[in-house]
Amino acid sequence: MYRSHTCGELRAANIGETVTLSGWVQKTRELGGMTFVDLRDRYGITQLVFDENQNAEVCQEAKKLGREFVIQIEGKVVERSSKNPKMDTGDIEIIVNKLTLLNSSEVPPFTIQDDTDGGDDLRMKYRYLDLRRAAVRKNLELRHKMAFEVRSYLDKQGFLEVETPVLIGSTPEGARDFVVPSRMNPGQFYALPQSPQTLKQLLMVAGFDRYFQIVKCFRDEDLRADRQPEFTQIDCEMSFVEQEDIITLFEGMAKHLFKTIRNIDIQEAFPRMTWHDAMKYYGSDKPDLRFDMKFVELMDVLKGYGFGVFDNAAYIGGICAKGAATYTRKQLDQLTEFVKRPQIGAKGMVYARVEADGTVKSSVDKFYSQDVLQKMKEAFAAEAGDLILILSGDDAMKTRKQLCELRLEVANQLGLRDKDKFACLWVVDFPMYEWSEEEGRLMAMHHPFTSPKPEDVPLLDTDPASVRANAYDMVINGVEVGGGSIRIHDSQLQAKIFKILGFTPEKAQEQFGFLMNAFKYGAPPHGGLAYGLDRWVSLFAGLDSIRDCIAFPKNNSGRDVMLDAPSVIDQKQLDELFLDIKPIE
Ligand code: AMO
Repeated sequence: MYRSHTCGELRAANIGETVTLSGWVQKTRELGGMTFVDLRDRYGITQLVFDENQNAEVCQEAKKLGREFVIQIEGKVVERSSKNPKMDTGDIEIIVNKLTLLNSSEVPPFTIQDDTDGGDDLRMKYRYLDLRRAAVRKNLELRHKMAFEVRSYLDKQGFLEVETPVLIGSTPEGARDFVVPSRMNPGQFYALPQSPQTLKQLLMVAGFDRYFQIVKCFRDEDLRADRQPEFTQIDCEMSFVEQEDIITLFEGMAKHLFKTIRNIDIQEAFPRMTWHDAMKYYGSDKPDLRFDMKFVELMDVLKGYGFGVFDNAAYIGGICAKGAATYTRKQLDQLTEFVKRPQIGAKGMVYARVEADGTVKSSVDKFYSQDVLQKMKEAFAAEAGDLILILSGDDAMKTRKQLCELRLEVANQLGLRDKDKFACLWVVDFPMYEWSEEEGRLMAMHHPFTSPKPEDVPLLDTDPASVRANAYDMVINGVEVGGGSIRIHDSQLQAKIFKILGFTPEKAQEQFGFLMNAFKYGAPPHGGLAYGLDRWVSLFAGLDSIRDCIAFPKNNSGRDVMLDAPSVIDQKQLDELFLDIKPIE
């Protein structure tokens, strides 16, 4: 028997017992004739005491232990004289009488404790050591618990978990595919699923009216804190449902997760906002509603007073930061620099403070009378002590996006983005299409299988860009945690949508013939949604990046630095696959 207890288990009630523990040496220290060892496993840390006066031989052995040695000990649980209330096992320690070295360890490249000295790259290279740290381990434990609760909720709702293949053909979801060459079919490639979208629709045709899968998806896209090239979806689909049915069921799942994971009871329905309003008032399809600072449009108020920047602008809008009139000139200059960064791209920022006596002092006072500035104040319902920040531009959408960045930055500075506060929201009525500058054509905003709103179907022929989709996203704290839609289940309508997306009938047939064909055999009305598991976990764990809740994540260049992947493959493998590598410039 390697252990009678784990290293996180013993309490005052165990005092007097003889126990056997196994684990890793986190730290040793010597004090007088005693050697203290912190013994760690995934359950916690227990303090071991090797006493020279009681067992000199074992104590000598203990002095040789290094960090991360794996040992087994036997000893007696005693009350600790100086208790450590920060540790679960802090009331006790073990007086060791037997020590067995199970394995030694080289000196680890960084200290394996919560406040580690290891940089990001080093920790990723030795991720198996990083995972020994409680902070990282806890995220994986949370992930397990969340996946478990998801299965439990969906199982109770009658969903079946069905596995779909990973080696498939392309499923366009707006990103590039990762592809896998086929040895048995020379010159041909599988694509890894960006999501099991078409397969889950085929399962609906097959009659599995409530499907789910906790599934790896692969997208070759630029990485960000909330994006990994391989990530996990809680992918779901239902038949004989309308948008409202799906929203109700998956809002229920969100509430179940809040309750079981964070012990937060949410009784009321999540608010809903149309995509149009989200863009108009927050400049984003995933607004963070933990704080207000809704955009106020000022074209009517501020145009026509000789301030050229505003007079020539297509859009003027601002936000009001409550109580932020104390911002210094330096802080305001820094905010101006922030919006002028190339990634944001604003030309400048105008600010106005509401003084204690209610008058408004702005950075453009010479163009505006106090009367006009008071009108502006009223537009924001601003009060003494508030700060108004304004951006303008010749492209309304671009300027709103810049104002969105400013809103988030100011909220960060004012501490309004508390990670223990949650603001959930459904964004609904997405447009079917968005214009792609790069492609020079309309692209599906969600994916090509999303159905248009029935009342907008006539617009498909006349004004496709204005057609709204039966599509919805769930947003929490400014993070898109999930999205879905009601699907097209009619092969003719699907063919029409492919046409609008620029597919020739031949190309549509080649790529999606299997789906349109299936639709000829009694496809039920259906729809679904996929939640991003990594995003949910990192939200509940308060993480800045989803990387921290993935056991073996990729870095920002899409590399696994531990496995050193991707890597070149040898000529024999290339030959078997009939592949030649072009010289890389
Ligand atoms: P969508 O593309 O919106 O929809 O993806 C669903 C959810 O998956 C998460 N997600 C990601 N998480 C981490 N890294 C990524 N690169 C990444 N990309 C997406 C997000 C997102 O909301 N087939 C549809 C779903 C459907 O219509 O049912 C789909 O994949 O949380």
